[in-house]
Amino acid sequence: MDVNEETRRYWNEEGGQAWVRHAARFDAQLVPFAEMVLAAAAPQPGERVLDIGCGNGALTREMARAVQPGGDVTGIDVSEPMVALARSQIDPAAPASFVSADAQTADLTGEGPFDLLVSRFGVMFFDDPVAAFANLRGSLGPEGRLAFVCWQDFLHNPWMLEPMAAALQHVPPPPLLEPGTPGPWAFGDPDRVRTILDRAGFHNVELRAVEREVTLGGWGDAEEVLEFLAATSLGRLVLLQDDAELQARVHDEVRQALQRFETPDGVRLGSAVWVVTAVS
Ligand SMILES: C[S@@+](CC[C@H](N)C(=O)[O-])C[C@H]1O[C@@H](n2cnc3c(N)ncnc32)[C@H](O)[C@@H]1O
Repeated sequence: MDVNEETRRYWNEEGGQAWVRHAARFDAQLVPFAEMVLAAAAPQPGERVLDIGCGNGALTREMARAVQPGGDVTGIDVSEPMVALARSQIDPAAPASFVSADAQTADLTGEGPFDLLVSRFGVMFFDDPVAAFANLRGSLGPEGRLAFVCWQDFLHNPWMLEPMAAALQHVPPPPLLEPGTPGPWAFGDPDRVRTILDRAGFHNVELRAVEREVTLGGWGDAEEVLEFLAATSLGRLVLLQDDAELQARVHDEVRQALQRFETPDGVRLGSAVWVVTAVS
């Protein structure tokens, strides 16, 4: 199998298409996490930044503002449709460009050296995370920094756990994944993250646990959020059923679960992330 073959397929097909279609909702939901990366990375004017798994480019745009004057940002992502959207959304005057490539294997020597590697939820999908982070570290200059945010364990993330638990009253659970399987929950174990970064050659690795409420889907009531969730990878596993009657029962259960978290500002549930920093 090719390196990251399934990841590349997913993010170029259903995953990437959902993220492009719901780009505004994903971005609104994830605003607090861009702020966390910015605070941890502390980008300075004149610095050169690589945004790993930049997707639709929201963090790239923030970084491009932060490094002016004199700096620049490169966003790298394996998803063609997301990179295309990122390119179309960037201010042409912004010091930012995008590379459509696999961050695990891409030759980044022509792009770097960077002062700073950042990511918002774009580093948990590598088949071989040690090789990926070693490759990325190779693009850093002296005293380069790394700052990213990733999800803690699934069980600490009510924004996904609550709707999933509601659905599982009617459908069997999706197959259990081996801990560390590439995907949103691959970096839940802090010791594993430390080990990966140590082996990739990083120093001063620190993980800070942060809990934060998120507005699921960015805005809207339980019905709108249900529709949004059906487009996400985990949502699709349980919310889309061949049997229409079963699907209706699952949707009723999940809608009721989400209604418990409705506020005037949208459907708000807890989340837990690691804010990870290291130096080269
Ligand atoms: C959860 S999305 C986050 C997107 C973006 N960072 C954001 O916060 O909006 C994960 C992103 O990582 C990208 N990705 C996954 N594996 C990758 C790889 N090996 N190389 C580059 N990008 C990758 C996906 O295509 C996707 O855009």
